[in-house]
Parts: sequence; structure tokens; C-alpha cells
Amino acid sequence: MKNILFISSEVVPFIKTGGLADVAGSLPKCFDKKKYDVRVILPKYMCMKDEWKEKMTYLTHFYMDLAWRSQYVGIMEMEYDGIKFYFIDNEYYFAGPMPYGNIYQDIEKFAFFSKAALSALPVIGFKPDIVHCHDWQTGLVPVYLKDSFHEGDFFRDIKSIITIHNLKFQGVWDMKTVKDITGLSSSYFAPDKLEAYGDANYLKGGIVYADAVTTVSRTYAEEIKTPFYGERLDGLMRARSNVLSGIVNGIDYDEYNPATDKFIEKNYTPRNFRKEKVKNKKALQKELGLEQDERKFMIGIVSRLTDQKGFDLIAYMMDEMCQLDVQFVVLGTGEERYENMFRHFAWKYQGKVSANIFYSEALSHKIYASCDAFLMPSLFEPCGLSQLMSLRYGTVPIVRETGGLKDTVEPYNEYESKGTGFSFANYNAHEMLYTVKYAMDVFYNHKREWNKLIDRAMAADFSWDASAREYEKLYDSLLSES
Ligand code: ADP
Ligand code: GLC
Repeated sequence: MKNILFISSEVVPFIKTGGLADVAGSLPKCFDKKKYDVRVILPKYMCMKDEWKEKMTYLTHFYMDLAWRSQYVGIMEMEYDGIKFYFIDNEYYFAGPMPYGNIYQDIEKFAFFSKAALSALPVIGFKPDIVHCHDWQTGLVPVYLKDSFHEGDFFRDIKSIITIHNLKFQGVWDMKTVKDITGLSSSYFAPDKLEAYGDANYLKGGIVYADAVTTVSRTYAEEIKTPFYGERLDGLMRARSNVLSGIVNGIDYDEYNPATDKFIEKNYTPRNFRKEKVKNKKALQKELGLEQDERKFMIGIVSRLTDQKGFDLIAYMMDEMCQLDVQFVVLGTGEERYENMFRHFAWKYQGKVSANIFYSEALSHKIYASCDAFLMPSLFEPCGLSQLMSLRYGTVPIVRETGGLKDTVEPYNEYESKGTGFSFANYNAHEMLYTVKYAMDVFYNHKREWNKLIDRAMAADFSWDASAREYEKLYDSLLSES
């Protein structure tokens, strides 16, 4: 039996701000239980729903040194869906209405979390063979593991992996403060270690010290070795290319299943979607006050509203797209300029555009089920889960060919009747518009072809099966090295 510990700052169903939570919550369930004991550790945030906090049980607590301070570390536990979860409790660090706030607070919060997650292990009696870290919030784990923890027998053989879900966020702060917070010695703050461009960089620390580095699609693993996608770490990514690989994300096929989904108006399957899927569209038009016409081409967007997702292209073309015979349903929160943009267009094109500027699990499922197409013209996209959810619900993705979008959406080929969606190559608003019009033409004028696209989309398999096997292989190869 191999012991694996996931260390993540967000995990579904307990706390979520983006796709990282979906991955950290759904992947651990998909390993071969006879060979791998996979457990997960995350912070106990005050903003978690009471429903979850009430189900946790207190395990133990201790005090841990973090530089010159001694801090309380409580450990709660819960078994959920066959997986053991541990929660690190500290009301000073994990207060606040959201998991992340000001970066200078987060820098200390996640130094604490990373060190506490390791310190907790001998206390709870779980010795991982591999700690599997995710994003900058856990970048210090491989560093600590090679530092003070290395001296103890318990920790010496533990291998570490860091998975990059988004290279844009690196956890950067000035070296003096980080040295003070982390208690790491000066020798760590050098250009071949934690230092980057004069500051301390948590993610860089993780990438330098981890035994393996992965990211969430093959294309993104290549892209980040180039300056455009490398977020100033492309040199490091090239230097680490011998341990870097891309493993595409999957989604939870039980959670996202049009045949059983409790959130949607009418369940449907690959066999009966032709008759049943549209009932969801009608219900959503009614719910959101859109013109009630089941023949209208409905485009969905469910997203964090940031420039990563291509909203500059949408902002540029929205007026023009609204002249077409389409409806837009948007669900998302984020940068104010994009929130206001969608509010504006919903006001300008009443009955045609619905802007839902909030977070809602239920509405997201309804959108995946109801729309004809899903628009995701990202500037960059490490993997993307929304397009996978769309495929699963037979909602045809329209994407830019970058990162995971390129790896998961096969472009429509009208001559060979192939493909699961529509895509364009360049980050260019006119290319996007052209592609939306092309999709619309197939929808309105070649219905049989459109339905075959849906057939193929729903038949594509982005469950975790294949990718979980790839992670298992990686775990095995790391452990056979020693
Ligand atoms: P990212 O992690 O970059 O935000 P992904 O496509 O990997 O992008 O994952 C986004 C996840 O967050 C999906 O599960 C999507 O449905 C969900 N999501 C994003 N915004 C909202 C929202 N406003 N309400 C509900 N779910 C949302
Ligand atoms: C990040 C990326 C997204 C990816 C998700 C889960 O948030 O932006 O592309 O799907 O992590 O790996």
C-alpha cells in the first residue's frame, strides 16, 4: 500500500473558488483503493458552511514554531465519500469571508498551512510516501520537506510532487518579510532557489524542490516553457523540463451527469437529448426572464470574470454578437469591469442577455444543461473544467485553442463529420466572432450535423479514469527511484 497525501488550499465540497477545488475533491476518489491510501489535508476556513464544520470531529492539537512565533495547530477530521480529510484549524489565519484576501496576509497564512500540514503528520500517525501539493499556496511544502523536516527519520524518505494549476499566481512577496515569516535561512533566498526577480516566490520554491512537477494538460506543460505563457518562470520551466509533465484533468462523472443531476429541470441521456435537453432551455428562459423560444441559439458562460478567460474579446464583440439571433446566459463573479460590462449588456439587450453576477452551483448546472453552446475564448487555460462539463451535458464548446482547451475540444470538421466543438487559433476578437457565427450556422441550418456534434460531445470521456492511472504511474516511478 502506498500512502499519498494531497495538500490543497481548496477542496470540493468543503470550499471552492475555482477548478483547483474540483480537482482536489474529485481526483482522490479515483485511485485504486487496493494500492493507494490517498488522504487530503486543507485549512478549516471560518467561511466554510456550518453543515461541514458540524460534521468534523476534533482529533488533536499542538503548538508549532513558525519563525519566532509559536502557533496553535488544531486538527479536525472527517471521512467523506470514502476519503479521509484532515482540516488544519487556526482561527487567526483562517478567518475572513473568503479563503484568499490580501496577498501579504495570504503569504503568512500559507506558510503556516504548509508547515502545519507537515508537522501534523507524525501526530496523526499518517506517513505519506508522497505529498502531492497544488499551486503556490503549498509551494513551501517541498521546501520545508528538504529543510528542517529532513533531519527527522519520519520525513526523510517522503517524496513530493507539485501540480501547477495556474502559473500566473506564484505567491510573491519581499524576501525580508518572507524570511521572517517562514524561518527559512538566508541561503534559501538565492536565484536558484526561492528568489525570482528580487522577491521571494513560493511557487518557484515548490518547483525547484519538488521531485516531480506536473501541470493540468499536455499543451500547457509545453506552453509554460515559452515567454508568452511562462509568467516570467519559463526559464525555470525549461530547466525543470526533465521532471515536468502534463496530465489532463477529468471531472466527477457522478456529480456532473445529465441523467441524474438534481439541479436541472429535465434529466436526459445521449439517447434522448434530442427531445429532452430543450426542456431545460425553456425552463431557464422562463426563470431568467429571457424570450421564451426553444429554437433560439443559447450561449452559456460560467466563469471567474478575469482577463485569463478572454473577456476582452467578448467585451469588444458583445454589441456585434447581440445583433445575431442568439441569447447569452452569463454566470460569474470577479473583476468589476467585467461584472459591469455584463450588467450593462443585460440592461441594453433585455430578454436576450441574462447576467448573473454571483456564485451558484445550481445555476451553473442549469446552464451546462440548457445551453446550445458554451463560450470560453481564454487567453490562456491550464486545463479548464467548464468545457468538460459542457461536453458531458451535450453543450457544444466554442473555445480558443490554448492549453487544456486545445487538448479536450476537437474542432468540428464538416467534411469528415468529426469533432466535439468549435475552436479558433489566435487571440483575436474577429476570429472569435467568425467562429461563433459558424457554430450558429450549423445550429440553425444543419440541425442533423449539430445533433451529431452533440452525440460526439456526450460520448467523449473526460472522467478521471485515464488521468488517475497516469498519476498512479508517476507515483510508482518516483517511489521506485529510491
Ligand atoms: P478556473 O479554475 O480557472 O476558474 P475551471 O474551468 O478549471 O476554471 O473551473 C471553474 C469551476 O468553477 C467550474 O466548476 C465552474 O463551473 C465553476 N464556477 C465558476 N464560476 C462560477 C459561478 N459563478 N457559480 C458557480 N460555479 C462557478
Ligand atoms: C486553474 C486553471 C484551470 C484549471 C484549474 C484546475 O484554476 O485556471 O484552467 O482547470 O486550475 O486544474
